[in-house]
Amino acid sequence: MKISVIYDSKSGNTKQAAEWIIEGMSSVQDVDARAFSIKDADEAFVNESKGIVIGSPSYCTQMTPDMHAWLLASAAHLELAGKLGGAFATAQYTHGGGELVIQSILINELDYGMLCYSGGSGCGEPYIHMGPVGVNSNVEAHNSLEYYKDYFVIYGRRFAEKAVEIFD
Ligand SMILES: Cc1cc2nc3c(=O)[nH]c(=O)nc-3n(C[C@H](O)[C@H](O)[C@H](O)COP(=O)(O)O)c2cc1C
Repeated sequence: MKISVIYDSKSGNTKQAAEWIIEGMSSVQDVDARAFSIKDADEAFVNESKGIVIGSPSYCTQMTPDMHAWLLASAAHLELAGKLGGAFATAQYTHGGGELVIQSILINELDYGMLCYSGGSGCGEPYIHMGPVGVNSNVEAHNSLEYYKDYFVIYGRRFAEKAVEIFD
């Protein structure tokens, strides 16, 4: 089963988070998971995917303008309806809007008719709620994107397990 992770990333943090999600997805049997930047998403692979996870940095507590433009224009031509959808974010402040970014991405996915899944607290610890957020060490000395690696990997595994359960 194919699953796509699509992200926007200027300085590499969200790309790194996407790769950690792929690591978790790839631990699930028969899953072929690939990550794409919005600049070079493989349309055929995305259309064949049963699950699509979308991620963005927080820019003024919103998804990036490029991600918003991609969701409005390019994503409208993809086959998204009826597929499992998820979202993730990175930020440089603990309270920098990561979950707001996730919320807006999920709303766009719902608009396209996707079935949104986060794992949520129903999956037990670690509680990931709406989707994983990674906070880097640009500003907060006590933070590091690496601290959030397990959340992204575990989220990826849970998402892929749910996609297999629903669509296989
Ligand atoms: C224009 C701009 C606005 C930003 N606004 C926020 C913000 O509101 N909250 C926050 O926590 N981080 C903010 N950041 C920091 C980024 O979200 C953070 O560094 C992110 O991990 C960058 O992802 P990337 O490396 O994938 O590009 C902003 C960065 C830029 C360039």
